[in-house]
Amino acid sequence: MKAARLQVMGAVAGLIGIWALVAGGCASEQQRKGQELYAHYCLHCHGEHGRQNEGFNWSSMPDPKPKDLSNKSEMGTFKDEEIFNTISRDMKDTSPGGDKIGDDEFAVPTMPTFKYTLSEDEIWAIVGYVRTLHGMKLEFKVEERKKELADALQAAQAKFDQAKQTYEAAEKKASDEAEKKSEALKKDVDVDEASYAKEQAAMALAKKDLDAAQLAANNFSTRPGKGVNVARPDLTVKPEQAAQLAEAGKKLYSNKYGCNGCHSVGEEGGKVGPALDRAGFRLNGTWVYRWVKNPQAMKPETRMPALGLSDADAKAVVMYLGTLRAAKPEPPSNKPAS
Ligand code: HEC
Ligand code: HEC
Repeated sequence: MKAARLQVMGAVAGLIGIWALVAGGCASEQQRKGQELYAHYCLHCHGEHGRQNEGFNWSSMPDPKPKDLSNKSEMGTFKDEEIFNTISRDMKDTSPGGDKIGDDEFAVPTMPTFKYTLSEDEIWAIVGYVRTLHGMKLEFKVEERKKELADALQAAQAKFDQAKQTYEAAEKKASDEAEKKSEALKKDVDVDEASYAKEQAAMALAKKDLDAAQLAANNFSTRPGKGVNVARPDLTVKPEQAAQLAEAGKKLYSNKYGCNGCHSVGEEGGKVGPALDRAGFRLNGTWVYRWVKNPQAMKPETRMPALGLSDADAKAVVMYLGTLRAAKPEPPSNKPAS
């Protein structure tokens, strides 16, 4: 009797052990993924351990310098969702007269967004890793969020199916009536389209919600830029507009998209990407446009994120880069200075 019970307890303990291994395995898989992504996309600015002046780009960046992610007394005040929202946000134009920015809103241009580069799942893995840099753990329930999105998609699909049925029934009723009337009158009678306009509008609305739910569910596990092909832009501008556009682009470059956090022009700016002093000579406008809109489409593993540039912003930035035509650096000379 006693032995049997011990055996059962042993089996239960064994099961718990296996379960812990499985769960622990998943957690460390997420942890490994978060660490890898951090090393690829964050480390150059924030450093391996998140400390000040650890990343190779830290000292060349304009102010403010990348945040110390190892500082628990400061990082501990942020909720998981707040860290997520910083990494996955829309860039704001911080120029005077630019976008409206709330008091508590994070809007430092030189901290890039990864909303258009990584999947939601990947960003949560990064948040989990950032937590470990200041000795904390992710509390947010990522699996629940995934389920929420799947449930929302299912609900939106059901709502759309219903709206479509209602629309089709209303449309059929109207065309049946028109047919009856034309038989009675012995001449063609138009279908009363206005009689089902409401159902048609409701269906269109439900379709929009369905598309949004589909996109949110896709972006959870798939990178948003994947398979998105940037169409060739029309970059022709009237000469009198070119200077104005380039001026706007220059502001966007620093004050909205923080390109200067990673690229230098003259002595100023970061070193993650190549210097852009001579971009106007070296690079083709159409190529630059498509590159900044979706760098991963051209080079999947590039460290440059897609920053969510609108078509108009991309065009202005391209115009600005076109004006960067610094002289070729002097070739190093071996002659002693005279
Ligand atoms: C080009 C350099 C750069 C890169 C790359 C970068 N950051 Fe930042 N990060 C910054 C700067 C600059 C700040 C703003 C510091 C401040 O507000 O004082 C910042 C701030 C932050 C903050 C604090 C936000 C707040 O609310 O104060 C977090 C968290 C963060 N970064 C995480 C990350 C993660 C994770 C990655 C990679 C996915 C990353 N950063 C990539 C430069 C960078
Ligand atoms: C987080 C850092 C980062 C940010 C922010 C960033 N870039 Fe880049 N950029 C890079 C890296 C790294 C490369 C090199 C591409 C590669 O080979 O992976 C690059 C390449 C480029 C190139 C091609 C340069 C050449 O000589 O081939 C251009 C043009 C460019 N970036 C423009 C921009 C513009 C404009 C912005 C702002 C809208 C921007 N970048 C923001 C990191 C960044």
